[in-house]
Amino acid sequence: MSKKRVVVLTGAGISAESGLRTFRDSDGLWEGHRVEDVATPQAWRRNSDLVLQFYNERRRSVLAAEPNAAHHALKKLEEKYQVDIITQNVDDLHERAGSSRVLHLHGEIRKSQSTGDPELVYDIDGTELTAGELCAKGFQLRPFIVWFGEAVPMMDAAAATTARADVVLVVGTSLVVYPAAGLVNFAPRHAPCTLIDPKADEIAVGSGVRLVAKRATEGVPEIVEELLDAL
Ligand code: OAD
Repeated sequence: MSKKRVVVLTGAGISAESGLRTFRDSDGLWEGHRVEDVATPQAWRRNSDLVLQFYNERRRSVLAAEPNAAHHALKKLEEKYQVDIITQNVDDLHERAGSSRVLHLHGEIRKSQSTGDPELVYDIDGTELTAGELCAKGFQLRPFIVWFGEAVPMMDAAAATTARADVVLVVGTSLVVYPAAGLVNFAPRHAPCTLIDPKADEIAVGSGVRLVAKRATEGVPEIVEELLDAL
């Protein structure tokens, strides 16, 4: 018999205890920068050096971070379930914890993308992406990140995956950034949904969702054990 499917939507909160800051827990500032100064196509046109430098710093933080107990628990869940992780995070902590099916909605910080041909995506060797680094067709490379105002190419695949869920978990996301925040609406009615976030009570999510107001490293292993015990 095929395994039951768990679909897990994760956000910055799952990586917080790995030392990577969330976006909206500090005055709306993102590591001291206004988001529109660094994470938009306009910012790239205005000052690509600042944008490159900003993401180089983020990349250094990601490389220095390690997966935490929440990432590891989701890997463990694969012992009995098919686990699809749909993450808004650009870090690779789910992959480094060993999770086998990870879809990145907002890009991947350890990759670069051609500014002339979006199909051309490369691994970044080390931490730095610099002006003058070009794709195979000769265009400047940019961080492989979905910026504000850009389309989310993985959204259709993420919605299709969510529509096949037997169980849904939502972890560490404020659910304010669309279209990602709307993904839970694609889940079938019969699929129980649990939201794990210390601010669970403040997050706008549909009725019938079980709220677990705990940090990811505490709440996720608990729910994972519950799911493993249920089979
Ligand atoms: P946010 O910063 O908006 O929300 C982080 C959530 O994590 C909040 O609900 C916190 O309560 C929760 N949180 C904080 N510490 C936690 C912990 N230890 N365990 C569990 N949860 C914790 O981050 P996202 O919802 O991920 O987009 O933001 C969505 C998108 O906005 C990001 O992907 C990014 C940003 O702009 C792009 O980069 C395109």
